[in-house]
Amino acid sequence: MKKFTFVSTIMMIGLLLILSACGTSKTGGSEKKSLKVVTDAAYAPFEYQDKGKIVGFDVDFVNAVAKEAGYDVKIEHVGWDPIFVEIEKKTADFAVSAITITPDREDSYDFSVPYFLSKNEILVPKGSTIKSAKDLEGKKIAVQNGTTGMEVVEKLFGKNNENIKKFENNNLAILELKNGGVDAVVADNSVVETYVKNNPKDNFEFIEDDGTFDNEFYGLLLPTGSKLKGDLDKAVKEVIDNGTYAKIYKKWFDVEPDTDILKDQQ
Ligand code: ARG
Repeated sequence: MKKFTFVSTIMMIGLLLILSACGTSKTGGSEKKSLKVVTDAAYAPFEYQDKGKIVGFDVDFVNAVAKEAGYDVKIEHVGWDPIFVEIEKKTADFAVSAITITPDREDSYDFSVPYFLSKNEILVPKGSTIKSAKDLEGKKIAVQNGTTGMEVVEKLFGKNNENIKKFENNNLAILELKNGGVDAVVADNSVVETYVKNNPKDNFEFIEDDGTFDNEFYGLLLPTGSKLKGDLDKAVKEVIDNGTYAKIYKKWFDVEPDTDILKDQQ
């Protein structure tokens, strides 16, 4: 009997030690929840691959937001269409990919508060006769499939217009322009302008058309009803308010952002 009590006491102490060890490792401060973030890393300067690493404005921004919200993030390149599949199926926590907040998308997904102002723009070879969106009439236009750039040219020239060539990613659309297969590309202004600046040998220029292209705002894309939205919104606002956003913006665009227009939207 005495022996039995002694053994069971030792066992009890052992069990308690194991339990308390488990407890500390779970609650022990530094452990952060890791989030899976998906992107289409073919949209410089927002997200692109450099020596096998995904980099860009969106990457720096999401890292700052995650840090502020107390999460770890792992950004994975999955491509544009798969982003929406992953978020719908909830196999990723959220997506960042210069994604415009549109009423259509809001029917099927949630978005964070807006974090970036953008509008569509036209990329053409220097000296092109295309000087406005109207001049695209009857011309061959390349767009990335499923983007707002595609939507705006379909609205102008018809959904089934065979002059509108749709590509899986924007780099392929630009390549088609380089190869002379189309007369123009329509995509987000920062992407078009960065391309012109970084590829002077291609002899391209950009054409703005404020009368045709509306202001758009990017948001982080979440599954509907995601519990993360509150944390991310708070962190986005904080990163904008505390100057981190302006720092990242200046790093990638060399100018100050207009944060008032973002705050007006929040
Ligand atoms: N802003 C546009 C849209 O939401 C284009 C975004 C494309 N992004 C990308 N990573 N390819 O439709």
